[in-house]
Amino acid sequence: MKTIISFLIQKSSILKSLKFRIWVIVMLVGLISSSIMSQNILSNYRSRAVSQQTTTAVSQFRILANHLASADYFNDKEQESIENELSLFSSFFSGRIMIIDSNFNVVSDSYQMSVGKAMIASEIINCFADGNAVQNYDDVNKYIELVIPIFNPESETVEGVIFASSSTQSVYNTVDVLSRKAGILMVAMILFIFIFAVVMSSILVRPFERITKVINSVDNGLAVPEEKILDYLETEEIMNAFNTVLNRMRILDESREEFVSNVSHELKTPLASMKVLADSIRNADDVPIETYKEFMDDIGDEVDRENTIITDLLSLVKMDKTSGKPNIKPTDVNTMIAGIIKRLKPIGDKNDIELIFNEERTVNAEIDETKMTLAITNLVENAIKYNKPGGWVRVDLDADHQFFSCKVSDSGIGIPKDSLDRIYERFYRVDKSHSREIGGTGLGLAITRSAILLHRGAIKATSIEGEGTTFVVRIPLKYVI
Ligand SMILES: Nc1ncnc2c1ncn2[C@@H]1O[C@H](COP(=O)(O)OP(=O)(O)O)[C@@H](O)[C@H]1O
Ligand SMILES: [Mg+2]
Repeated sequence: MKTIISFLIQKSSILKSLKFRIWVIVMLVGLISSSIMSQNILSNYRSRAVSQQTTTAVSQFRILANHLASADYFNDKEQESIENELSLFSSFFSGRIMIIDSNFNVVSDSYQMSVGKAMIASEIINCFADGNAVQNYDDVNKYIELVIPIFNPESETVEGVIFASSSTQSVYNTVDVLSRKAGILMVAMILFIFIFAVVMSSILVRPFERITKVINSVDNGLAVPEEKILDYLETEEIMNAFNTVLNRMRILDESREEFVSNVSHELKTPLASMKVLADSIRNADDVPIETYKEFMDDIGDEVDRENTIITDLLSLVKMDKTSGKPNIKPTDVNTMIAGIIKRLKPIGDKNDIELIFNEERTVNAEIDETKMTLAITNLVENAIKYNKPGGWVRVDLDADHQFFSCKVSDSGIGIPKDSLDRIYERFYRVDKSHSREIGGTGLGLAITRSAILLHRGAIKATSIEGEGTTFVVRIPLKYVI
């Protein structure tokens, strides 16, 4: 049982193989066309041979009919010359010849069976009436039937007919011989086509086998294989597509490695600080209680920082398209942004920053409210954090018929031109030392960008150093999958 199943599996994989299919196609085309051709040639030969035989017979019988007429045969049937001609004719013509007079009586029969008998057939009656020769071919019994009129040379009336029938068996015999020969030829042909199909199929499929080999040879290094398979346009395209995927994978792999090393670095920094703090207390003697408290506060801060990094990392992971579907619902964007500003107002007040919300119109959009809130919060928070005392942050909400736009501008320190492209990178911060005292993980804008891309939106930043920064976010009103 097991072997039967494995045999079937094996067989079905053979059926699916391109090689096998090419083989079948070449075989079928070869066999069908050669057998159609040989059938055609044989049947062509047969019909040509039959019609040749008929035409020859008709012209000979016409000559005989003329002789009979000019010899006045019906009035004098005992003429020796005519008798001789008739017997000569029947010996040449492998068939039966009958001569019938105007009373439908058989006056001569090469088989001598029907002399004196009446012979009434529609063809004969018609021939007497209209004087036209008749030629029929009986396909089933394989014989030719001819009715040739004999005209009276003076009155031009039909005074008798020659009724002849002849078998075409000899033609069929020839056809049989030929088709036997064709059969032998076919066997040779099948053999040839079989070998040809095997060779062709394996030659045609070889480039694809090479592709498989090349693809299999790609190892963990994800290096683009050097071998180019240019045999067909298709193989070239497959290899190009494969190389593109490979490059993309390599970039992904590199950025994943970089991310992991960044994450471990960032997570280790607070731990290292805590270790230093703890060690310094342990190694010192007679530490006053105030110092203990101070160090403990510092350790608490580092724990908070560690916590923030982990929270941000988790948010970033959640933004990933692969980690489940976004929770898309029709959302009142005005209320959402008003809520964000209300929540951030205390931080704004603390830093002496004025928060302005300018609503051009009411906006309803299909978005994941939690993720979008996180994205906008990060922007407004940055605008507050990287600002100057007495500065302002302004949020403009507007929409057209397709998108809504949320513009977050500030009067802050600005972003240098060469950093503008990098601020979305994970852990990237313009000024490491300054940023550290401001606080932050460098993940905020990465989270924002992921959230926006998840909504098929776009984000763009413009900035003048020392004057301020503007982030513009554009999100489709209808969610597109
Ligand atoms: N509104 C802004 N004004 C000036 N610099 C900004 C602004 N927003 C972001 N940046 C710069 O981009 C960096 C990355 O921002 P972000 O990813 O939110 O990280 P974080 O705020 O945790 O430092 C920040 O460290 C800061 O240098
Ligand atoms: Mg931030």
